[in-house]
Amino acid sequence: MECGTVTPQPQAGNPPPRLFRLAHDRAVINRMGFNNRGMEDAARHLARRKRSGIVGINIGANKDSADRIADFRGGFAQLAPLADYVTVNVSSPNTPGLRALQEKDELWRLLGALAEERVRTGTTTPLLLKIAPDLDARALDDIAEAALIFGLQGLIATNTTIARPAGLKDSNAREDGGLSGAPLFAPSTEILRQLWTRVETRLVLIGVGGIASGADAYAKIRAGASLVQLYTALVFEGPGLIGRIKRDLAALLARDGFSSVAQAIGVDAA
Ligand SMILES: Cc1cc2nc3c(=O)[nH]c(=O)nc-3n(C[C@H](O)[C@H](O)[C@H](O)COP(=O)(O)O)c2cc1C
Repeated sequence: MECGTVTPQPQAGNPPPRLFRLAHDRAVINRMGFNNRGMEDAARHLARRKRSGIVGINIGANKDSADRIADFRGGFAQLAPLADYVTVNVSSPNTPGLRALQEKDELWRLLGALAEERVRTGTTTPLLLKIAPDLDARALDDIAEAALIFGLQGLIATNTTIARPAGLKDSNAREDGGLSGAPLFAPSTEILRQLWTRVETRLVLIGVGGIASGADAYAKIRAGASLVQLYTALVFEGPGLIGRIKRDLAALLARDGFSSVAQAIGVDAA
C-alpha cells in the first residue's frame, strides 16, 4: 500500500469535477491536484498503524509552495521514519511545474537535498523516485544516473500520462489531467523496460500503469519490475482483482518454469 501524495500543508486540490471515468477505454483521467490534509495529519495516522504489511508514503510539494525542494525535504524528515519506503513524486501532471524537477539540474538539487536530509536525520528508509511516462531516452539516462549517484533504492515507472493515445473512444478523453489504466499499459511498460536496460539489478524497479490482470503484472516483471502497483483497474474490477492477479501470476510463472518472481525479472528487456 502506498499512501499519498502528501504535501507539507493541507490543500483542497482542484475544483470538481476532477475525476473522469473513460469506461469504454478501461481508463481514468484525473486532475485531483494533491487534495490532502497535510503531513502532520498523515504522520498521526501512520504513527497509529500496526506494523504489518508494507506501507510506503508518497511525498510532494504544495501547489503554492515558494520552495518545492524544501517541501520535499520537510515531508521526508517528517514521514520517512514512519514508513517502510518513501516515494518522491516528481511526475504528477496536476501541480504546475512539478514535473520540471525531473530535469537534470533540478533533479540533482532535489536528490542532493534529500541525501543531505537522510544523513542529517540518520534515516535509512528506502527512497524511490516516481517518474512520468512522457520522458525521452536522454531524460531516462539522466534520471537513472542521478538515482545511482544519490544512492536511491529504486524507481517507480510510471505516473499518469498527459498524452492521449490514438484510439481512445470515450468522450471524457478530452478532459485535462493525467490518463491512467489500459491505454497507459504499453507506454509505461516501455519506460520500465528502458530503465531496466540502464540499471538492471542496481535499483529496485516498481512497475505501474495499466495493470488489470495477472498477465499484465507478469509482463511488467518480465520488463524489469521487482514489484508492481495498480490503481485504475480497481475502479472497474473491485478489490477481488488482487487475489485473481496473484493466482494468475503464480500460474504464468509456473507455466514458464520459474520457481519465483525473482527469476522472471527483466527476462524480456534484454
Ligand atoms: C484518481 C487518481 C489519483 C492519483 N493520485 C496520485 C498521487 O497523488 N500521487 C501519485 O504519485 N500518483 C497518483 N496517481 C497515479 C497512480 O498512482 C498510478 O501511477 C497511475 O494511475 C498508473 O497506474 P494505473 O494505470 O494502475 O492507475 C493517481 C491516479 C489516479 C487514477
